[in-house]
Amino acid sequence: MEEKVYWQNRVAFILASMGSAIGLGNVWRFPYICYKYGGGAFLFAYVVVLMLIGIPLLILEFGIGYKFKGSAPYSLSQVRIGNINFEFIGWFAILVGFCITTYYSVIMGWSFDYLFYTLKTMWGDAPKEFFYKNVLGLTDSVFNLGKIPWHIVIGLLLSWVWIVLSIWKGAKTVGKVVYVTVTLPWILLIVFVIRGLALPGAFEGIKYYLTPSWEKLLSPELWQAAISQCFFSLTVGFGVMIAYASFLPPKSDIVNNAFLVGLADAATAYIAGFAVFSTLGYYAYTMGVSVSDVMKSGPELAFCTYPTIISKLPFAPLFGIMFFVMLLTLAIDSAFSLVEGASASFIDKFKIKRWKSNVGISIIAFLLGIIYTTGAGLYWLDIMDHFMNNFGLFLAGFLECIIIGYIYGSENMKRFINEVSERKIGKWWNISILIIVPISAFILLLVSIIERIKSPYGGYPRSAEAFGWGSIILFLILSIVFSRITKEEK
Ligand code: PHE
Repeated sequence: MEEKVYWQNRVAFILASMGSAIGLGNVWRFPYICYKYGGGAFLFAYVVVLMLIGIPLLILEFGIGYKFKGSAPYSLSQVRIGNINFEFIGWFAILVGFCITTYYSVIMGWSFDYLFYTLKTMWGDAPKEFFYKNVLGLTDSVFNLGKIPWHIVIGLLLSWVWIVLSIWKGAKTVGKVVYVTVTLPWILLIVFVIRGLALPGAFEGIKYYLTPSWEKLLSPELWQAAISQCFFSLTVGFGVMIAYASFLPPKSDIVNNAFLVGLADAATAYIAGFAVFSTLGYYAYTMGVSVSDVMKSGPELAFCTYPTIISKLPFAPLFGIMFFVMLLTLAIDSAFSLVEGASASFIDKFKIKRWKSNVGISIIAFLLGIIYTTGAGLYWLDIMDHFMNNFGLFLAGFLECIIIGYIYGSENMKRFINEVSERKIGKWWNISILIIVPISAFILLLVSIIERIKSPYGGYPRSAEAFGWGSIILFLILSIVFSRITKEEK
């Protein structure tokens, strides 16, 4: 059987959890939705959500993993009523996280390709056309898969090889790799903030980012966006943080660590906003347009807008390399944290060798990822991302709170957490786990279901959307199947 590996020290655990949390979500998702939902007002809402939902959930996941000393499925299998246990919830979380990682790694694949394109700023004067046509080969509809661009498949393969190597010996290897993958993107981010702020027009961009429109606090969409950003960004509902906490040696703290990780994640997102918006301000300035016209999120921001700006800077290839290395190192530790979480689950349950499980998961994820490399890949990425974020993560978070809060008992868990932690949690934590998180997750689930019944997501055909629904249902079935297989005791 695989021997149990622990983090070498507290710093390794904190860095690994931070690495998992801090990812593409901080750099290209947060700044954009912050701007879209009222700048400073969204920032305020996000801090509220972080305190009421994000950090309590992180404390809960750390608590579960540390208490039961196992992956998400194993830990939740220890909570029982009669002979019913809740292992399936752990599997469900892992499957949702796995699905997210299959497309997350494709974005890493694009970044690998751009490392080469940037050497000669190959996008020329038309970065948008270059990205959609030359790189992605985007087709006109979701069922027209077009050709598989081999350069992306190779980028994807490189990402998976890198992921497998980073977790080869589990927590032992991860604990070392994260020293680089957490600090390097931070250093690069600071370089981009300083460079960005020194550009003409930067101030206009920052003004856009931060000017608060307080009236937006009244809009339910703002709160929905804040909560879903919080789940995604903190990697809660993925089963990852449960596994990471299970590698903690005895006598470890939970509460302080959760606060550290949550606050570092939010701070990174906030700082990333300065890098993004100062450069967008410059972009708008050079184009003679207003900042609101150049606002983009996600792929377009990273692979079209940023390259345009990079071309305009002196030492363009250098900045380009720094930018894509930043994206890659931001993403890698999030991606491998999921493989670690999933691997821990298979090792706990099926007693297989770590390397076999790591390699197996990575090969399957790589093969599934090929769908997102096709000409319709971007559409599928968009659909899956919507379903995993708005249904998968909320459902996983909701079920975790109900099971621990009401069946295991939030008071029991709180007592355990307080016994081991330097800082103690009070009644507020019970209120959060028993009421605030489950109610908000439940409402958001309902809202998302109603929205989808009314109209298909993003104007895609219902038949395409069915794959989103289908995946959620498939994951529920698979999690029940996994939890029923051979009931071996650990
Ligand atoms: N927390 C990550 C981010 O903000 C999301 C993520 C985690 C994606 C784990 C995949 C696996 O980007």
